[in-house]
Amino acid sequence: MAEENPKAKKVAKQATAKKASAQKVSAKKAVAQKVASKKASAKKAVTKKSAAPKGASKKNTSGYGMGSVDIVMSVDQVAKEAASIAASAPTVPELDKLAKNDAFLTIDNLRAGYGKMEILHDFTLKVGSGQSLCLIGPNGAGKSTVLHSIFGFTNIFSGSISINGKDVTNLTPSQKLSEAGIAYILQDKSVFPGMTVEENLLMGGFLKNKPAEAKIAAERVFDKYTRLADRRDKPAGVLSGGERRLLEISRALVMDPSVLLVDEPSIGLEPRFIDMVFEILDDLQRRDGKTIVMVEQNAKKGLEFADLGYVLVSGETAIADEGTKLLKNPDVGRLFLGG
Ligand SMILES: Nc1ncnc2c1ncn2[C@@H]1O[C@H](COP(=O)(O)OP(=O)(O)OP(=O)(O)O)[C@@H](O)[C@H]1O
Ligand SMILES: [Mg+2]
Repeated sequence: MAEENPKAKKVAKQATAKKASAQKVSAKKAVAQKVASKKASAKKAVTKKSAAPKGASKKNTSGYGMGSVDIVMSVDQVAKEAASIAASAPTVPELDKLAKNDAFLTIDNLRAGYGKMEILHDFTLKVGSGQSLCLIGPNGAGKSTVLHSIFGFTNIFSGSISINGKDVTNLTPSQKLSEAGIAYILQDKSVFPGMTVEENLLMGGFLKNKPAEAKIAAERVFDKYTRLADRRDKPAGVLSGGERRLLEISRALVMDPSVLLVDEPSIGLEPRFIDMVFEILDDLQRRDGKTIVMVEQNAKKGLEFADLGYVLVSGETAIADEGTKLLKNPDVGRLFLGG
């Protein structure tokens, strides 16, 4: 899980350096400074996948999300851009309003991270029941850490997390799943290829009191997704990428959670499967009333899907708005949507 994430480990050193400098300045005043210190990440966001040589002034390349972008920004310009968007950080009443003043999942002033390292600084999040929220932002901004914190994978230094008014801050991940109705959908490659589809699905019910209950719950999920039911006796290794993602989502549904935490649902999938996954999530939200908090590198897809979007920069929310409005926000477009 969090500890096994090689990508996270790879960037851990970078975060240590960032934290050391971040601690020297007071949290509020520091937003712009921290953003500036994060310019390497921000630059990466803009120039991701670019094969342009250092110093190239204008080169067509792939953007952070979909599409392509002409890179004309220097590192300093990107830092300035990011600092200027961070200056318009949303207030708590604004976040409340986006959740229709009826938040179901609430994170209040959370300071959390790994070991002693604080990654999220005074972080607040509000999502209404049945709403969806997509977190976007540069690599290392802390998006996955928000999901990890909600599910109980991080060290929480202060602040609180609640579901439907009930404090769940210090519950363990298995309590989160069995008592608080929160499910974390594991990223790519969490399916056991040598086990059958059915065995993989049943693992989603390991916290049920009796195996028979898990079996009933798994059948309920099979009823919903016949595509999986048709393949129940096949080893999961033969599933297509899209079917495997469906199995990962389905496994989380066995416990009938009310909140789904989804980290990068489109990662590694070809376009037709990406659309399928978003349709499944849309159905879970609109038909089954699930509350969804998602992280998505494909910012365009994520913001088209979600009711709300937060732009995370250096462990703080720089912009929050309705998803469709963020799609039209010029800063978001320039930095995260590829033009
Ligand atoms: N398990 C971990 N142990 C220690 N540090 C971690 C761990 N996971 C993440 N971090 C650090 O926390 C910071 C935020 O990482 P996080 O994975 O939340 O970023 P992210 O916004 O999801 O980035 P990406 O877009 O690359 O997935 C990074 O600097 C990273 O080094
Ligand atoms: Mg991540």
